[in-house]
Amino acid sequence: MRFSLVYLLVSLVTFIFAKKASNVPKGFATTQGRNFEVDGKPFAFVGANSYWLPLLTSKEDVEATFKEMQAGGVKVVRTWGFNAINGSELAGALQSGLTYYQVWNSTEWVLNDGPQGLQRLDYVVETAGKYGIKLIVAFTNNWVGYGGTELYINWITGAGKTHDVFYTDRRIVSSYQRYVQTIVNRYKHSPNIFAWELMNEARCSGDLPAGPNCVPGSNTLHTWYQEQSEFVRDLDSHHMITTGGEGHFYWKTPVGYWWNNTWISDYNYNGQAGEDFDLDLQLENIDFGTYHIYAQYWYPLLDFPGSNWTTKSWGLEWIQQHADAAKKANKPVILEEFGLSGYDNKTDAYPEWVDLALKTEHGGIMPWQFGVNGLKESGGNRLIKYADALIDGASPDDGLAIYRNQTFLWNVFTNAAKVQASRFS
Ligand SMILES: *[C@@H]1O[C@H](CO)[C@@H](O)[C@H](O)[C@H]1NC(C)=O
Ligand SMILES: *[C@@H]1O[C@H](CO)[C@@H](O)[C@H](O)[C@H]1NC(C)=O
Ligand SMILES: *[C@@H]1O[C@H](CO)[C@@H](O)[C@H](O)[C@H]1NC(C)=O
Ligand SMILES: *[C@@H]1O[C@H](CO)[C@@H](O)[C@H](O)[C@H]1NC(C)=O
Ligand SMILES: *[C@@H]1O[C@H](CO)[C@@H](O)[C@H](O)[C@H]1NC(C)=O
Ligand SMILES: *[C@@H]1O[C@H](CO)[C@@H](O)[C@H](O)[C@H]1NC(C)=O
Repeated sequence: MRFSLVYLLVSLVTFIFAKKASNVPKGFATTQGRNFEVDGKPFAFVGANSYWLPLLTSKEDVEATFKEMQAGGVKVVRTWGFNAINGSELAGALQSGLTYYQVWNSTEWVLNDGPQGLQRLDYVVETAGKYGIKLIVAFTNNWVGYGGTELYINWITGAGKTHDVFYTDRRIVSSYQRYVQTIVNRYKHSPNIFAWELMNEARCSGDLPAGPNCVPGSNTLHTWYQEQSEFVRDLDSHHMITTGGEGHFYWKTPVGYWWNNTWISDYNYNGQAGEDFDLDLQLENIDFGTYHIYAQYWYPLLDFPGSNWTTKSWGLEWIQQHADAAKKANKPVILEEFGLSGYDNKTDAYPEWVDLALKTEHGGIMPWQFGVNGLKESGGNRLIKYADALIDGASPDDGLAIYRNQTFLWNVFTNAAKVQASRFS
């Protein structure tokens, strides 16, 4: 970045004003050292991921889902605050009832705040509170799903660009901020918002590749996190803000493994993904850290029958490392997403992962993803988008969903919810 007096002045002004207010309104969640707090009382939770809640077309189904969550002791739900479509998808969306908030048909998106748009998110935000639940709301997606960064890139800079222009092209940054402002202003007075999330799983690469300027040490994501968290803080001085990142480290001591006589430097620790978990957590307006676990998908080379590497033990290490990072930063950290395919894999690993997260004072534990049966819209069957569908009244299942009828897993989380609730009493 070119140094200039104007930039210095702008930074100084942001530095002075972009600060969290200390007088938190009633019912808002905040932090105190390594703990969350609500109304001055420490707060720890088991939560749920459900991006599909605002995609439901029936209010009764939204309500039934929150009711089931409440029965499981869920206190915080993470959902998408974005649903963007291409202009070419509009006719189909109107026909199928697909929820959409932004339509892209030029360099600027058009907002849909109607009944098939943000009013659906309004209902989710409102109903959450009725069931004692707060929401983590993400502003966009690193991935193409439900209209993330790739639509901004495609429409604003045109094809042939790398993924990381999302973080640096000023036209894209202001278009993103225009959307962030819409969402934050809409709900900034609501105690039902737990935290704002800048992006789901920001990385240098997405469905497009990374460019040569987003590399270990370039701090591309760090700079973006800083600017966007200050932007949100200026709009809303009370709600917490987090990154939504997967928790990749940028460690000086290289971590890697041997495979086929080749040393492979590990993406999760070498900064190549784009995040620097420790440094990002130090940002003044990042109130807590998030990380995810998808060991099966991240280590396919090590993950084969007969290998002495296991998803379970790798997950335990990753949980411990993030707990250590939280301690260093003196901020809370949440295990925000984790998933294993296969029922036996889940029953084998989840109890130990959850147990370690509880023991290492994690403020929140949120499996990917919540499942509910008995949904009634369209007779319980509807294709939403991609492979996401309601089938016989069951919410979308990507192989990772956990339904109440899976009693063993359900109990792992409901018991953990009880431990979290009683931690401070
Ligand atoms: C959106 O539509 C444009 C053309 O109208 C197309 O080039 C692009 O691939 C589409 N993007 C997505 C993510 O569907
Ligand atoms: C998108 O733009 C094209 C070309 O300007 C136009 O023909 C089309 O009707 C627009 N579609 C929507 C959904 O606005
Ligand atoms: C292992 O390395 C050798 C030598 O470089 C190469 O020929 C072989 O294709 C590699 N095996 C796999 C499975 O990639
Ligand atoms: C298996 O364990 C040995 C000894 O700890 C280690 O050197 C090796 O890298 C491990 N193999 C795999 C595939 O992880
Ligand atoms: C269980 O995990 C192993 C190791 O990651 C994987 O190979 C297997 O496919 C998983 N089982 C199912 C049913 O997904
Ligand atoms: C639980 O519900 C899911 C979703 O409807 C279904 O696929 C699964 O078979 C059910 N499992 C049991 C054990 O009943």
